[in-house]
Amino acid sequence: MKKILYLTDLYYVAKGRNYYEEDLYITNRLKDNFDVVLCNPKNSESFENDVDLIVFRNTGGVNSFKDIYNSFVDRVKSNNLKIFNEFSGKADMCGKEYLLDLTKEKYPVIPTIDRVEDIDLLPDTDKYVIKPKDGSDSIGLEFLEKEELLNRNIIDGTMLIQPAIDFKYEVSFYFINDKLEYALYAPNKEQRWKLEKYDYNSEDMDFAQKFIRWNGIKNGIQRVDACRTQDGRLLLVELEDLNPYLSILELDEETRERFIRDLIDVINNMIY
Ligand SMILES: Nc1ncnc2c1ncn2[C@@H]1O[C@H](COP(=O)(O)OP(=O)(O)O)[C@@H](O)[C@H]1O
Ligand SMILES: [Mg+2]
Repeated sequence: MKKILYLTDLYYVAKGRNYYEEDLYITNRLKDNFDVVLCNPKNSESFENDVDLIVFRNTGGVNSFKDIYNSFVDRVKSNNLKIFNEFSGKADMCGKEYLLDLTKEKYPVIPTIDRVEDIDLLPDTDKYVIKPKDGSDSIGLEFLEKEELLNRNIIDGTMLIQPAIDFKYEVSFYFINDKLEYALYAPNKEQRWKLEKYDYNSEDMDFAQKFIRWNGIKNGIQRVDACRTQDGRLLLVELEDLNPYLSILELDEETRERFIRDLIDVINNMIY
């Protein structure tokens, strides 16, 4: 059988979610088709050349092992290692900078700037959100009144500034390559990890696919995180194109089976 090196951090602690359960489930399913070995991303180097594919999954934010991660990315490129997700993405895997680009290009995203002096480019509001460009898991994210924001000297290019959106709910669209597999939403704003199946319509699908097309990843799992505004529009919150958590154990069986089938197909196509 072909060999997969499956990178994950089984001990990663995430609020309200057990990442390791998802990885145990997925690897248990992959094992019937591939020889799968699990490995913490910090220990991968000596195994990388012995496998047919490296799968990068729930490692948590890579900022906590930035240097190790950067050398890994370098090795993938210089040794031509096959990796899923491909490292060609322009979104979260490069930090949140892309939100500035998408704002300028008039995509439906939460309007985003990175210098207070550009505040007039945002819709007028009393409440703002600031977040680090290289953040994840809400680390460093703050809600600020306009006064507070103006008093902060945000000019060094490490933070993003957005209007605080009073959304109705958050919804996520999960893709394998360019195929939309399922969507989940958090009907209760206070418990945004309590997810339910979301029955998307064709307009919602067009919205999500726009960002997948823009990103152009050929092989990978991506999650398009959006919020529904009070006036009914969808706005992009984040395009997670490195290692999105999938909430796979919360899916109905049919959806989960289809997802696993498609994942195995895509991996087979990459390896053979
Ligand atoms: N501009 C905003 N307005 C309102 N809520 C926001 C805004 N930006 C982020 N949030 C809230 O914070 C959460 C985390 O923000 P996100 O940009 O996805 O960063 P992270 O990479 O930490 O997940 C979002 O899911 C949403 O609930
Ligand atoms: Mg997020």
